[in-house]
Amino acid sequence: MNADALTREALAAFAQSKRQAFEAELRTLVEIPSVSSDPDRAGDIRRCAEAAVDLFRRHGGEATILETEGNPLVLGRYDLDPALPTLTVYNHMDVQPANEPEWTTEPFRMEIQGDTYKGRGTTDDKGPALSAFFGAMAAREAGVPLNVHFLWELEEEIGSPSFRGGLEKHKHLLGTQAIVVSDTVWITRGKPSTPAGLRGLKGFRLTLETASHDLHSGVVGGAARNPLAELMSVVAGMVDGHTGKVKIPHFYKKVVKPSRKELKEWANSGFSVETFKADHEIHGLRTENPLKVMKRIWGRPTMEVHGVVGGYTGPGIKSAVPPRAEVKMSCRLVPDMDEASTFDLIRRYLAHHHPDVQLHEEHGLAPFKGHVSGPYAEAVKDAYAFAFGAPCCFTREGGSIGAVKTMEDVLGCEVYFLGLSLPSHGYHAPNENYDWEQASGGIAAFARYFQVVSGF
Ligand code: BES
Ligand code: MN
Ligand code: MN
Repeated sequence: MNADALTREALAAFAQSKRQAFEAELRTLVEIPSVSSDPDRAGDIRRCAEAAVDLFRRHGGEATILETEGNPLVLGRYDLDPALPTLTVYNHMDVQPANEPEWTTEPFRMEIQGDTYKGRGTTDDKGPALSAFFGAMAAREAGVPLNVHFLWELEEEIGSPSFRGGLEKHKHLLGTQAIVVSDTVWITRGKPSTPAGLRGLKGFRLTLETASHDLHSGVVGGAARNPLAELMSVVAGMVDGHTGKVKIPHFYKKVVKPSRKELKEWANSGFSVETFKADHEIHGLRTENPLKVMKRIWGRPTMEVHGVVGGYTGPGIKSAVPPRAEVKMSCRLVPDMDEASTFDLIRRYLAHHHPDVQLHEEHGLAPFKGHVSGPYAEAVKDAYAFAFGAPCCFTREGGSIGAVKTMEDVLGCEVYFLGLSLPSHGYHAPNENYDWEQASGGIAAFARYFQVVSGF
């Protein structure tokens, strides 16, 4: 191993020398609209998998598409010697839709504005994936004695419905000592953090139909039921829209409170309410107390209303009674809640109080409890301190990554996180972006991580 190639200065020079290549690869991936929720994009999902295979092969690796019942997985392998340990890097190549009106550039064209890369998927998760990738190339050039594998998924953003089956089917190819995931967010710029847990998710929809078509609200109004108004009051019975408190009986029963040690880490994490609001461009919060905000986003479950379908939405009003309505909802879950029993509580509540409201089950993901000690966790801290010159702390993440728990279950190894995204990069938001500071630091962080882990 050539240690001179792995100093901070040498890795900065390596990143600089690869900047053009990084930008070209990122452009190729971002300009493939791999929106997993849109069935019309199936061809782009396939093209994205093929582009990933091509990327790995062009850089001297072996690569294959692993078929699943749904979208494919891509496995890229940089093997030195079967006797050496193997580390796997997980990322996802599918993205969210990008139809928000606030985009100021084309979402599926990558715009370079100085050090900023704009476009859907730049930060979630194509940019971090490529940072990890070029970090591995640096480690390989320096002769770090480690086999590095890349497992790239293409249906993370729809809850990874085929991931478990895919892993089971191709398990013989996926043996690894540990997995590192780069798909999480720091506290803010300059303040790295790594999750000690992720929230889970349970989605569902409510529908109600009370007639077969629009009715004149003067002719039938007063006597006819209004499904839109009824669903609004059903939702109001389930969750307090002002406080966020979920009113379903026993909803909070399995929630494990964050430990004192955890709360102390959170309090020392550098989290600031002002910065949080500015990074996300949020106008107001339910509380301004920083510890309460952290508990709410990392340690407590939620029930959210995502969308309401029904009635007239054109200009002005149409004085009709709508015949049907739909509400799209989900709950974020924390340890030790689970998708099935949470959904069951909701099902029982509705059956009892609103028997003619139909409940439709959507995907679910279990919450994840992470590992905060041991050599792989220490290596994460080392890598951040080395690459960014800033200490990292263990917080949690409010978001969900379905693949994480599944990989631990099926592959029998632990998952760690070396995320590179910032709140201001705008996960799922219009004008999503990534930047060279995070990318070049990320390349150094990953190279260091591989170097440290190769010594275990
Ligand atoms: N990278 C995110 C998850 C995430 C968000 C981790 C914020 C850490 C902080 C991932 O791509 C994502 O968006 N997951 C979805 C999954 C869902 C659609 C099943 C999520 O959390 O909503
Ligand atoms: Mn992601
Ligand atoms: Mn996402």
